[in-house]
Amino acid sequence: MKIHNLKVNGINEPLGYHFDYLTFSWELATQHVPDNLSFTIEVAKDSTFLDIVWKDEIIDTFNTISTTADFLEPRQHYFWRVSTENSQAVSHFETSKMDELWSADWITYNEKSLPSVRFSKRISVDKPVQSARLYSIGLGLYEVELNNQKVGQEYFTPGYHSYDFIEQYQTYDVTDLLTPEMELSFILGNGWYRGRFVFEGGFENLYGDKQKLIAELHITYQDGSTELIVTDNSWKTTSTAIQDNSIYDGETIDFGHTIKLLTTVEVNDTKQNLQGRIDPPIGIVESFTPCVFYDAAGQLILDFGQEMTGWISGTLPANKKRVIFQFAEILQNDTFYTDNLRTAKQTFTILNNDIQRFIRPHFTFFGFRYVKVEGLSEHEAKTFKAQAIHSLMDERFSFSSSHDKLNQLMSNIRWSQKDNFLSIPTDCPQRDERMGWTGDITVFANTACYNMETRAFLGHFMQMLSLEQKHVNGAIPFFAPLPKVDNKEGLNPFLTSAGAAVWGDAATVLPYTLYKHFRDKGLLAKHIDSMVDWVDFIYQQDEARGGNRLWDFGWQLGDWLALDSGIKGSVFGATDSALVASVYYYLSANYTAQALHILNDKRTKFYQQLTEDIRQAILKTYFIENKLNLNPKTLQSEVEHIRQNMANTFAGQSIPTRIDTQTGLSLLLRYGLYPNEMAQKDLIDRLKNNLTEHDGFLTTGFAGTPALPHALLDNGLKQEAFNLLFKEAAPSWLFEVNMGATTTWERWDSLLPDGTISGTDMNSLNHYAYGAIEDFIVEKLLGINLPDVIDNTATYTIFPHYTDHLDWVEGRLKTPNGDLTVRWEKNGTRVSISVNLPVRTKAIFITPNGDYQWLQAGENHLSFIA
Ligand code: BGC
Repeated sequence: MKIHNLKVNGINEPLGYHFDYLTFSWELATQHVPDNLSFTIEVAKDSTFLDIVWKDEIIDTFNTISTTADFLEPRQHYFWRVSTENSQAVSHFETSKMDELWSADWITYNEKSLPSVRFSKRISVDKPVQSARLYSIGLGLYEVELNNQKVGQEYFTPGYHSYDFIEQYQTYDVTDLLTPEMELSFILGNGWYRGRFVFEGGFENLYGDKQKLIAELHITYQDGSTELIVTDNSWKTTSTAIQDNSIYDGETIDFGHTIKLLTTVEVNDTKQNLQGRIDPPIGIVESFTPCVFYDAAGQLILDFGQEMTGWISGTLPANKKRVIFQFAEILQNDTFYTDNLRTAKQTFTILNNDIQRFIRPHFTFFGFRYVKVEGLSEHEAKTFKAQAIHSLMDERFSFSSSHDKLNQLMSNIRWSQKDNFLSIPTDCPQRDERMGWTGDITVFANTACYNMETRAFLGHFMQMLSLEQKHVNGAIPFFAPLPKVDNKEGLNPFLTSAGAAVWGDAATVLPYTLYKHFRDKGLLAKHIDSMVDWVDFIYQQDEARGGNRLWDFGWQLGDWLALDSGIKGSVFGATDSALVASVYYYLSANYTAQALHILNDKRTKFYQQLTEDIRQAILKTYFIENKLNLNPKTLQSEVEHIRQNMANTFAGQSIPTRIDTQTGLSLLLRYGLYPNEMAQKDLIDRLKNNLTEHDGFLTTGFAGTPALPHALLDNGLKQEAFNLLFKEAAPSWLFEVNMGATTTWERWDSLLPDGTISGTDMNSLNHYAYGAIEDFIVEKLLGINLPDVIDNTATYTIFPHYTDHLDWVEGRLKTPNGDLTVRWEKNGTRVSISVNLPVRTKAIFITPNGDYQWLQAGENHLSFIA
């Protein structure tokens, strides 16, 4: 048996990380294991495991164990191993400075703010080095160099955090990089910290008005002596050739700039917020070469064939005075087009380049497929490559089928995830937004976890969410980090309010979904209070209004971007937003109750009861005598008045408010929120009629889209569900594919059938929310259903659904016990299925007529008439 892929808190061999808890996990590669296999996990300070500091033994079918981190010591390298009969695997991790005081001081400079500065120090090392660690953070963004060579493969450090509450530093192992005489330097840019950021023109200096740095280099020599080099006012500070940089606008490098010496000063800023990192590094993942052509306006264009987030790099010839690369998602009328980027300039400019050299940006990224080039010949431009950059995560799921367009859709979904998983989960990577919108990740979380090992990435985001939450009384903002700006007249309310359904429910949906996929109790326990606080935030307002157990108050976005309002371009859909919010109140209470139960917490009962009370309130409000109540009191509630006011301000029109929309009906069906079979049938009939009225097309937005296909299929409308998935005209997923999309769009009509863009005020071609359809493809088409959260026996449910749209389909999901694959193939009416289950798992297999049989680990082949 092989034990491999050992991780601590979701990361392989984390170095210098902060650990609030420890979750050890591993995978098995083997065909057979005894039933009650137990594992011993040991943590030691030495590789020979003589000095064991923690040990436990478990029989856990998910190959994971969580414990408190209270035995850890600062800057300590630990070895850990997993052993079971006949096999063993060893890995290691290292702690950060933890609560060790910083000897270093924050340094900055006296002169007025510059877009980029360089802090440096000459160092001599005259004895053989045993080990050396650099702990550092530069704000806004920084890159470290030793003798002008970049240290490590990571970009955009320190990443995007709620810098007003926490500053997560990086740790570098520089043991092998030290030379007798060297220069240690840090190049800093603006980043999210002080560059222009946030929609509607944005703000500068959001967290600070100058770059600053704190760093400690700890060297241990082979003779046992140690040395500590710290930032202080002996460091040298200069300007750099980077003359402009911001997340939205790009970067300008002027090689003709005369470097100025600045005055280094120590600043007394707090070091209390410094903490070791918990997030995965951001790196270059793939490179692309371009096709080159001139557009209809005669401009030189590079087409990389794939929409991505990243930048371009290459060798710039000597004697180029002015070279400009501008980045865009799309062409319009065969011409380079940037109107939908709103104010984001997305430009990389090089001035006064005298010698041939390699160039790339440092402190900006672009969302693009096309690059317009000025100042280079076609031949010179062609040598530039595009680099896709995102937070590094293991891929967990692969898919293929006989349907090319479906395969392309799956690729688009994966790309939109990668493109928007850069430090935090963003809405889009290109226009002047790129923020951690909570609603988008709420609806996409399940798909995100199928695709990638998201624990460290989303764990970091959840930490930002809960830090922000503490400052808004348990509410959850519309995005995190939440930059704090003065609440003056005319300010966009998204910046000053918090706590709407779907968006705020990220607080419960994320921890619950991560637990379902990864069984990480440490991570769940870390976020349980955030879950509880969020539900309490709704509950307390509900109580103050008489305890109706409905969420019919506050500012709600309802079914964002749905198509059923009848108003062209409207962001609001027709579904009663109190219905959407109440269903999410129910889900959040339910997920919280389940999480508390898993953690054996005595608060469980209260939230179980609350879940049931909300359910009863929904049934009472939305049904009369076993039929849907078309005129519930919530249509007149506070929440709908506020929404109407907003729609009036936005479009100068009122929006219809109904509950028998595709979204309303599917939410009730998807979560079993009906009193009995008759009421269920009423919902099904209405949904079926609604679809017929729309020729089988969807009208749903952010809230309804993830629910609709599941609701159809689970309620006997399989044909309708698959027709929806395989529709090729607008609005549909494959319409985007037909229009040449390589990522998923923000709006169903982002592009019109004639290829023109439908609007420019809010229209991205790289938003992942509607990619939530992937969980339907995993769970319904392939039929892979994860074990219930309270099941500890790793029992999967395999329930594929067959459709004439496909000849065959195959999916491979990485589970804690190895790869689980399902493949089905149709031959006339006969279906052959192979299910490969990893060791220590089993599955209930369900056939089309509802029969079931048990499958055991290993290859299983079945065949029947479908
Ligand atoms: C973003 C979204 C977000 C929405 C919320 C948009 O501008 O791009 O995806 O969730 O605003 O209102």
